[in-house]
Amino acid sequence: MCGIIGYTGRLDALNVLLRGLEQLEYRGYDSAGIALLSGKGDDRLLIKKAGPVAALKETCENLKVESHCGIGHTRWATHGGVNDTNAHPHIAGKVTLIHNGIIENYHNLIEKFGFRDLLVSETDTEVAARLLNYYYSGDPYEAIRRTIREITGSYAFCIMFEDIHDKIFCVRNVSPMVAAHMEDGSFVASDVTAVIPYTNRYFVIPEYQIVTLGQDGISVQDFEGNPVSPEMLEVNWNIEAAQKNGFPHFMLKEIHEQPEALRNTITPRLENGLPDFSEDGILDEVLSGCDKIAIVACGTAMYAGMVGKALIEPIIKIPVSVNIASEFRYESPLVDEKTLVLVISQSGETIDTLAALRLSKECGAKVLSIVNVKGSTIARESDYVFYTHAGPEIAVASTKAYMVQLASLYLIGCRMSMARGKFTEAEARTFISRLTDSISAVQKILENKKRIKEAASLVAKAQDAFFVGRGLDYAFSLEGSLKLKEISYIHAEAYAAGELKHGTIALIEKDTPVIAVATQDHIYGKTISNIREVRARGAFVILITKTGAEIPEDICDIHFAVPVSHDQFSVFPVAVILQLLAYYTSDMKGLNVDKPRNLAKSVTVE
Ligand code: F6R
Repeated sequence: MCGIIGYTGRLDALNVLLRGLEQLEYRGYDSAGIALLSGKGDDRLLIKKAGPVAALKETCENLKVESHCGIGHTRWATHGGVNDTNAHPHIAGKVTLIHNGIIENYHNLIEKFGFRDLLVSETDTEVAARLLNYYYSGDPYEAIRRTIREITGSYAFCIMFEDIHDKIFCVRNVSPMVAAHMEDGSFVASDVTAVIPYTNRYFVIPEYQIVTLGQDGISVQDFEGNPVSPEMLEVNWNIEAAQKNGFPHFMLKEIHEQPEALRNTITPRLENGLPDFSEDGILDEVLSGCDKIAIVACGTAMYAGMVGKALIEPIIKIPVSVNIASEFRYESPLVDEKTLVLVISQSGETIDTLAALRLSKECGAKVLSIVNVKGSTIARESDYVFYTHAGPEIAVASTKAYMVQLASLYLIGCRMSMARGKFTEAEARTFISRLTDSISAVQKILENKKRIKEAASLVAKAQDAFFVGRGLDYAFSLEGSLKLKEISYIHAEAYAAGELKHGTIALIEKDTPVIAVATQDHIYGKTISNIREVRARGAFVILITKTGAEIPEDICDIHFAVPVSHDQFSVFPVAVILQLLAYYTSDMKGLNVDKPRNLAKSVTVE
């Protein structure tokens, strides 16, 4: 949450910052701001505006400023409303500061240091700026060290001092930040998308170390002043991957990238038609040595976990629980040395998921994480990492990351079934060939998306929508309903189809959209009966079945058929239909598909 960019070097800092903020806007888009040091005397320029980066850019249009050092921020508000004053950067005396995270003890700090009358904003960040200025008497390291000792909470700070004209200082705890140096200067950013136009080599700023960005290099030191050499990482995608490439929205582009993302995630892990994780360092003992599995994640990633449970538990026959990461810590989870904790996260930075991971390790469990972002905190702190290869996901609503999380769970489920003697080699081979067939099923849906757009034009008129299914179909419906509500603002809920008549059916009226997923042969008849119940009450039914399923007369208004080689694999094409339905609905309503209100990518606050 919140985008951070800092630059010092030979290039024009204003351009670099504005470009970086555009790349990072998906992390928060309530307001944006920049601060530039002129390099002459004590000149410091601060511009901040509520609203999107475009508004900031417009304000900066005719600005004549020569600066080669500055910091910029795009905000997702936590403390204090959305207005120009609360936007970052914040200035206190000689200090200019931007921040991602939450300073938990900011109230105490205001009282302890008597800052109340000095503050102009309602933010916790300004308190940190005040504190830094309080401790600053010419030695930035001393001021940072003393400030950090006082602060509790999560933070990624980027700091400039008015009398140090060409340097940026950074320090962090939990909240992510990366740094990179190339010939033209040094960069810091909350994630690599802002750095990638300049270089593909970067490092993750280690926690509790002070990083100094200079025009000619970056130095890192610990709190005792000892130099530190951080591990350099390389990004394996290029800037095109983080651009729209002709699509009107990132979300639509990312939906279309799913076949490739699936191929990139699955193919390198196949050896002679069987899953093989030796490159990932995940040995069979990890998969066979546990007596239960706890899946932990948030939002879409958690819904991928629901599919994983519905798939894996009946095959391997040990308990698989799916846990909302933000609840996990507070419910005394039944996790011990014999538990394999499967953590799922696109960003690898979701703070609740990270906290659950840390707790699981304290309980003695082994943690295998399914993560998209290389080098992210969750990846680094896990015992084993299974990287998904979706490339950068920029749209706030997750699509391709969900798809490859599913593929990863299917691969892990298959290898685990082999390792535990539940699959013969032949059965595993058949499973994998069905998994790879799913890629063409996804492709087929993309090629025939026109009808989904037509269906969306009817859903767009609704206030409420319901998604129903049983078993695996229910697991996919949960994600379908999240996708619709988060980008179209239509109230949407998913229910196990048999549960409707225990209360929810009271909400069904004439023309209420019900998206019914019925791809599981063994419960098909039962789901159809549940659809009849809503149909009898006037629901507008969009039915999704397998190709060739027998469709009773007058059971639905719109029917989609998905090509599936086996019931277990229907999630892949069904997910695309549900994503496109949400996408077109949002677009038809004229909403900001990629940046839905109140949301931000990568939730780094609790
Ligand atoms: C919804 C969405 C979120 C994320 C959730 C977890 O479309 O993207 O629900 O899935 O915030 O994020 P990660 O996977 O980064 O941990």
